[in-house]
Amino acid sequence: KRVVLAYSGGLDTSVILKWLQDQYQCEVVTFTADIGQGEELEPARRKAEQLGAREVFIDDLRQEFVRDYVFPMFRANTVYEGEYLLGTSIARPLIAKRMVEIAAEVGADAVAHGATGKGNDQVRFEIGAYALNPDIRVIAPWREWDLNSREKLLAYAEAHQIPIERHGNKSPYSMDANLLHISYEGGILEDPWAEPEESMWRWTTAPEKAPDQPRYIDIQFAHGDPVAIDGEALPPAALLAHLNTLGGEHGIGRLDIVENRYVGMKSRGCYETPGGSILLKAHRALESITLDREVAHLKDELMPRYASIVYNGYWWSPERRALQTLIDQTQRLVTGVVRLKLYKGNCTVVGRRSEESLFDPRIATFEDDAGAYRQQDAEGFIKLNALRLRIEKRLQG
Ligand code: ARG
Ligand code: SIN
Repeated sequence: KRVVLAYSGGLDTSVILKWLQDQYQCEVVTFTADIGQGEELEPARRKAEQLGAREVFIDDLRQEFVRDYVFPMFRANTVYEGEYLLGTSIARPLIAKRMVEIAAEVGADAVAHGATGKGNDQVRFEIGAYALNPDIRVIAPWREWDLNSREKLLAYAEAHQIPIERHGNKSPYSMDANLLHISYEGGILEDPWAEPEESMWRWTTAPEKAPDQPRYIDIQFAHGDPVAIDGEALPPAALLAHLNTLGGEHGIGRLDIVENRYVGMKSRGCYETPGGSILLKAHRALESITLDREVAHLKDELMPRYASIVYNGYWWSPERRALQTLIDQTQRLVTGVVRLKLYKGNCTVVGRRSEESLFDPRIATFEDDAGAYRQQDAEGFIKLNALRLRIEKRLQG
């Protein structure tokens, strides 16, 4: 028997690696994805081998992650509950896909992960895995074992010679990072009134410490996806990484929210999404000149639905694919350049232009126009639209 474990190299998944071999008498193949979390992955390889992994997969999925998951999601301007840019949610379907692929490659009949039984991530990993391989078995040790406290976990690690990170640099938060964001949950954040200390934030300068000089950037889009910054063409992963650096320097993209988890509880989380926050603004600005009004509004109505689909773990679903087809279709002419000003935590759009722009200065002008729009036409337009309101008012007296 063989299991593919989504392995981070951290304490929890290291314990799982050992526990699976003990509990299930099975061979464990580990899989670690580089999705831009910014950690060295070679130590994870050594650790997995030391702990008895049968085979170790370490895959660089950065380009695929941004190109095939982040960018398609940003075409929809996706935001969950008005705030969250779904940095963790959007990475899970890719990890689920790669787990299932590796299981097929190495002849494993099960996959395992280190997400707890209280969160969203278990749902995303598992719904993804079942959608891609209906016969896959899933092992979620957090829902099975009795190592439910930090002490028990550490005791197990000690008993099995599992290396434990020293307390000095161990963060008090549950964190998750990739090219789109870094998240913090747990610790003092479990009190929704408690403000986190400044040192929690790892990617962004505090807005009050950000440079006094604003930074202007031009982002070029083609068919709804960003392709160049300040005239320099960049592949998806490098482009997002560059925006993270710029946004981080200027204190952009911090978030402190309470969100509704799919499993029913409310949870407090802090997020840094510097590049994503810039992209969202820029993309909307370009759509403001290139999309027809009704198409733009339709997208905005569908967006919360799309966001829930991603948040709840239904990336590999027929409803997500159907929405994606619609969204992608709207992006054919979303090509052009947006200029933004980054300044002390703010990202302001200051210019937008496109060959495909629907903005017609001859029509919009407050100056004398050349007959493209007859102001007299507005009178009937308004009167007919007011008709039902007048009827109602008359009836009410
Ligand atoms: N609450 C966020 C979400 O559900 C972040 C989850 C963070 N996950 C983690 N394993 N630390 O998308
Ligand atoms: C977890 O519970 O494993 C992390 C948080 C979440 O999945 O929502």
